[in-house]
Amino acid sequence: MDPMRILFISISGNTRNFVEHLTRYAMAQHIRNKGLPEIVATEVSEQTDFQDETTPFFCFIPTYLDGGNGIDTGVKELLTTAMGEYIGYHNNAKQLIGVVGSGNRNFNEQYCLTARRYCSKFDAPFIADYELRGVPSDEARVYKKMVERMQYLAM
Ligand SMILES: Cc1cc2nc3c(=O)[nH]c(=O)nc-3n(C[C@H](O)[C@H](O)[C@H](O)COP(=O)(O)O)c2cc1C
Repeated sequence: MDPMRILFISISGNTRNFVEHLTRYAMAQHIRNKGLPEIVATEVSEQTDFQDETTPFFCFIPTYLDGGNGIDTGVKELLTTAMGEYIGYHNNAKQLIGVVGSGNRNFNEQYCLTARRYCSKFDAPFIADYELRGVPSDEARVYKKMVERMQYLAM
């Protein structure tokens, strides 16, 4: 299987940390079983130049929201908008094969809401969620969900 691509954004480092651990976990799986894919991750930020994506990718997005009722009205995405703009550029959304959300459960209904909003906006499935930096069991769970998504698309 080809390597799985991740585009991620990280403001305070949690997502970056999780993606680094996940990438190492994927490498270990690949070494044990060559049929299992590695991960290639790319960070997106406000400094990232837009470019046309030509191969499938997963988006990893943390949640920074302000206001609203927690579901649909008045919620304003803060700090992570560069990712939405990048996916919205030309036909990039067509290559988006899944969204992994992160956040903090203290935010209740707004937990991982940016990821859920991206799924709706870009018509992509919600693959998995995890809190903050995640824990080792999250790596195995998220990796498995990503592989299952790749296998489904290959059918
Ligand atoms: C100002 C601010 C707003 C946040 N809003 C939400 C939120 O609405 N929902 C949520 O699940 N987590 C929320 N979080 C938690 C972050 O999504 C969480 O800390 C995440 O791991 C940050 O990822 P990063 O370190 O990669 O930027 C918020 C955190 C901050 C600092």
